[in-house]
Amino acid sequence: MDQLNKSTARKGDFRAVVLYNHQIGARNYSLGLQLPADADEVFAGFRPGQFVEIDLSRTPLPPIDLIPADLADKAGRTILLRRPFSLANLDIKPEGPLADVIYRVVGPATLRMTGLREGDNLQVLGPLGHGFEVPAEKRRALLIAGGMGAPPIQYLARVLVHDHPSIKPIGFAGAKTEDDLPFDRSRRCADGFAAMGIEWHVATDDGSLAHRGLVTECLQEWLTAHIKQDRRAMVIYACGPEPMLAKVTRIAQQEDILCQVSMERRMACGFGVCQGCAVECRPVEGEETIYRLCCQDGPVFDGKEVVF
Ligand SMILES: Cc1cc2nc3c(=O)[nH]c(=O)nc-3n(C[C@H](O)[C@H](O)[C@H](O)COP(=O)(O)OP(=O)(O)OC[C@H]3O[C@@H](n4cnc5c(N)ncnc54)[C@H](O)[C@@H]3O)c2cc1C
Ligand code: FES
Repeated sequence: MDQLNKSTARKGDFRAVVLYNHQIGARNYSLGLQLPADADEVFAGFRPGQFVEIDLSRTPLPPIDLIPADLADKAGRTILLRRPFSLANLDIKPEGPLADVIYRVVGPATLRMTGLREGDNLQVLGPLGHGFEVPAEKRRALLIAGGMGAPPIQYLARVLVHDHPSIKPIGFAGAKTEDDLPFDRSRRCADGFAAMGIEWHVATDDGSLAHRGLVTECLQEWLTAHIKQDRRAMVIYACGPEPMLAKVTRIAQQEDILCQVSMERRMACGFGVCQGCAVECRPVEGEETIYRLCCQDGPVFDGKEVVF
């Protein structure tokens, strides 16, 4: 069975070793983690869209001169809770799974991550959540990534190319500026869709790269230009800010295309215990909305289920 159509119910708390921690933009980094060989079995069924929780409680702050001024006030906060991260790639190797996390520095935990060096250790809990699914009858996958929503979408693109040759993916990536696109500048987006031979469209709010405006405008334009293509053979996958997910879902509904969105919530436990990550959803039957857990029922939901 391939990576996408197999689910993982089991998880573990593993000691990972840092392989690299490259800066790939002003605030964006790519972190390579080597998990131990005994993690292979539970990570073998990992799907793009699933996530891990990383314990950064013992990771020290970087030197004071490397702390951005806007984060100086909250930098010293104690890190009590693990932090959730999607994977941008996962390779199962005999020595253990190799995981790539692409992260953006936004607060005390991600700031601590910037100081990680080759050989450092971290506790990684996973696999967690419910990832993207690939319905067998689809032939076109429209992949929409907004800002730091790119990592699981990039990973999904790679899995589609390798395991689902009958599906043609096309990528749409948007961010505020070119520098906010979480791809490796030095390799000219080589880690992005282009390196996989996938047609992709970029939008930046300030026009610093490609289309000036929203990534959803590129999606709408593409759909209009391909009006004759069968919508029933298409599936949309999206990860990014909630207003973008709401807009993508609206477009998908207007076009009658199946749409899976990866939602974000602040998470404490990450596996259904604290009940702190509710997502308001429409029930299959009845009028009253219900709350589902982002960490356990999601983070990937059918877009039409979510009340935006
Ligand atoms: C399923 C999932 C997958 C994720 N994958 C990635 C990833 O691949 N790369 C990445 O950089 N980040 C990812 N995140 C977000 C990441 O967990 C947060 O950026 C991180 O926890 C911030 O920790 P911090 O202590 O640095 O900042 P904090 O002080 O905890 O947060 C800084 C600010 O960021 C916002 N924020 C933080 N976490 C969330 C959240 N979960 N939902 C909405 N707003 C939030 C809040 O406005 C907060 O004020 C993911 C989150 C989830 C739920
Ligand atoms: S994070 Fe605790 S229930 Fe979802």
